[in-house]
Amino acid sequence: MKPRLTFSPIELKDLAQIMQIEQQIYPNPWSTKVTYDCIQAGYQCIKGECSEHPGEISCYALMMIGFEESNLLNIGVNPKFQRQSLATQMMNRLLLISRINHAKHMWLEVRESNQAAINLYTKLEFKTIGVRKNYYKYTDANDKKIKEHAILMSKKIRA
Ligand SMILES: CC(C)(COP(=O)(O)OP(=O)(O)OC[C@H]1O[C@@H](n2cnc3c(N)ncnc32)[C@H](O)[C@@H]1OP(=O)(O)O)[C@@H](O)C(=O)NCCC(=O)NCCS
Repeated sequence: MKPRLTFSPIELKDLAQIMQIEQQIYPNPWSTKVTYDCIQAGYQCIKGECSEHPGEISCYALMMIGFEESNLLNIGVNPKFQRQSLATQMMNRLLLISRINHAKHMWLEVRESNQAAINLYTKLEFKTIGVRKNYYKYTDANDKKIKEHAILMSKKIRA
């Protein structure tokens, strides 16, 4: 059976746990400061906990809502809980929040090598609408400088 998620706002006390997950799942993890700034800016910052593991953050997402559109800034699933539909449940929650806030489209960028995320978004009927060349520039764990294109995707939410 698929785990059931409870959603709630990310609080400052959650930052350490989220940063620990972030370090495990990204070659270019966000800093605590960037995540902190999103919370302070009043963006939609949401964590998900599985009912079987209360107190343990299993997934999280940050999204900015603008005029008639929303922008997914980050979504991550704790490696322990991946491939159990948590990202799908979180994305559906974000789409619902976007719709309630009158967004007509949701936008996102994804590293072109991130096939897991591209599959997730494609399954949710996001369409590729462009490429941002060398959008991601970072130094990986082996001190190698990486440049990667971003695939820009969007989903129509309402007319
Ligand atoms: C991408 C990510 C969020 C997916 O989370 P998840 O909870 O495992 O995803 P779900 O279980 O909801 O999977 C939904 C669909 O996504 C695709 N998918 C998810 N993980 C995948 C993987 N490792 N390989 C290939 N496809 C994958 C599949 O199509 C899957 O459907 P299926 O299980 O029926 O085949 C997770 O792997 C993650 O946290 N990655 C690191 C952070 C990241 O890349 N975030 C996105 C930034 S743009």
